[in-house]
Amino acid sequence: MVAARLHIDGKTMIPDLLRTAPHLRPVLDRYGLQGCGGLLGPVESVEFFARAHDVKLDHLLGELNVAQDLPAAVPAVASKPSLADTIYRPFFKSGIAIVLTLGAAWGAYLLLRIGFKGDFRAAGLHEINAHGHAQIFGWVGLFVMGAAYQAFPRFKHTSLVGPRWAIASLAMMLTGIIVRSLAEPLAGTWPPLIPVAVVASLLEIVAIGIFAALIIATWKAAGKGMAVYDYYVLSAIVWFFLQSVYETVHLAATLTASSREQLVGLVATWQGALRDMQIHGFALLMILGVSQRVFAPFYGLREPKRRLAMIALVVLNAAIVGEVLGLILMRQLGHAWAGLWYVSALVLAVAVVLLVRDWNVFGKSELPDRNLKFLRAAYVWLLISLAMLALLPAYQFGALRLLAPQSEAATMGFSHAYYGAIRHAITVGFVSMMIVGMAGKMAPTLNGIDVHGLRPLWLPFLLLNAGCATRVLFQTLTDFTPFAYRIAGISGLLEVTALAIWGAHIWGVMDGRVRARPDTQGRARPYYRGEPIAPNHVVGDVLEHHPELLQTFVLLGFRPLANPILRRVLAETVTIDQACRYLRLNSGEILKTLNSAIGHPAATRLTLGVVDQPTRENASACMPRK
Ligand code: HEM
Repeated sequence: MVAARLHIDGKTMIPDLLRTAPHLRPVLDRYGLQGCGGLLGPVESVEFFARAHDVKLDHLLGELNVAQDLPAAVPAVASKPSLADTIYRPFFKSGIAIVLTLGAAWGAYLLLRIGFKGDFRAAGLHEINAHGHAQIFGWVGLFVMGAAYQAFPRFKHTSLVGPRWAIASLAMMLTGIIVRSLAEPLAGTWPPLIPVAVVASLLEIVAIGIFAALIIATWKAAGKGMAVYDYYVLSAIVWFFLQSVYETVHLAATLTASSREQLVGLVATWQGALRDMQIHGFALLMILGVSQRVFAPFYGLREPKRRLAMIALVVLNAAIVGEVLGLILMRQLGHAWAGLWYVSALVLAVAVVLLVRDWNVFGKSELPDRNLKFLRAAYVWLLISLAMLALLPAYQFGALRLLAPQSEAATMGFSHAYYGAIRHAITVGFVSMMIVGMAGKMAPTLNGIDVHGLRPLWLPFLLLNAGCATRVLFQTLTDFTPFAYRIAGISGLLEVTALAIWGAHIWGVMDGRVRARPDTQGRARPYYRGEPIAPNHVVGDVLEHHPELLQTFVLLGFRPLANPILRRVLAETVTIDQACRYLRLNSGEILKTLNSAIGHPAATRLTLGVVDQPTRENASACMPRK
């Protein structure tokens, strides 16, 4: 049955639209709705959908209206859910499982050992590297792959090319991560595991190669050309692939090192460059690209300047190459090359600051939600980590020499503690906070849950920030006092607890176990004839479609509606829930009565002037709220 003609505008909510006019779905599917949000779509307005999917609102409204009048004029796109529609889910679930076992949980255990022993050498090199690997490939890698397979095709109004290959890439990546994470630390005592770890690592290269090929093929198939943010994503994918090859070679070399000296030499020469490729090359560029795509349409922040973004991308890539080469050449050709690394790091920091300023990340948002605090905190941590990087010479050659001249860090000329703190600020503070915020937005939206009706996640937010701040501060202070080890040592527990609370919540959202609470904040939404009356429908809208309900409203206690002037002024803006709260009425009972009275002429003809007391029958519906 085709419903009556609707008035559709930018404020129309997609679930309302699809509930009343499901035949309009193919229009939205063509712009990337495709299975997103389930049967009724995501809880967002048509205007928001248009911005998020980069289509002109007027154009979209035009197409929706044409489809209303001439359904045959719009070619239908299959709206049957397909494998690609929910492809992010197994990736997100695997990422959560990895971070809570081989990643952060394992890292927290290592940190406890370091803390209680009062020495960073309390954890073995391969134990630490297994953790670093699980985090980069399993936590960051799987989230990026899942989000990219899900969202990038939609950004281009197309479908993912080869979704079965995408699932194959997950299977390979997951096998590689698990086998490699277990085999690397054990290979020291049982060498037959060395080839096993290396083969697992090769499997990861293949998985990342498939990922890169599918995303590029999908872009090509869409035929829409590349936007500036796509080039950030492309650069990140190239760094993702390069680091996986580099990591495999590094793994093979470190596992087969013939002596402790050779092992230390390999790590000192090659590992720093690997971390810069992973954290600045892959994670940072990917996040900067996605931020440019989503901050303006999703949060109403400033639209990025194209020219600045393009120049910054070239500069950022050059700076990352400079960091990588500087670190390697410093060890091979002499310490003067440290200057190349430092200048590159400074250039990278300046480029990031200019971008963050351009997007007005900390400015007023027109569309705030619970996730915005995570995204903003992530950028605060990014700036902290870059400031610490810029201050590294001042710390090493100023603060340390002045305040702790006898410390190992001062005598060696390198503070492992400070460098590790910089890295933690960016991996946990920036990258992980960003994953938490982005997944906190994506998962509910893709499951048709209004993000505004979900828990604000303050506890994981505070724990993650507190854990990260404690680690960064007290890890640095270990250069000055051994007491700081203990406090840094327990910080991991705060972070793992935060990720566990958040992980359980997101898992529940994906499985449909977490539901939005009924909208009690009175956010108004328009009413369409034929749908049940809900708390956030505007009274005036309901009366416009069902004038016969005026008397019922008044009988139920909405006595101001009896006055035509008040009716005009109030009914246009006030929702049923707001009115019930103001009049101290039980909204559940009121809604039940209103919905059952739809279409029935009022039983008693009362002149408005005499409607002062609710009748006995209706009095039960007017119970004051407890
Ligand atoms: C969430 C809680 C986390 C805890 C408790 C933790 C703990 C640790 C510890 C104890 C170390 C060795 C410390 C050192 O030698 O400086 C370490 C190193 C490392 N962590 Fe984490 N970590 C966490 C999260 C992360 C995340 C989210 C990432 C990546 C996104 C990450 C990536 C790394 C890497 C790459 C290394 C190796 C650094 C190197 O020596 O080359 N960690 N982590």
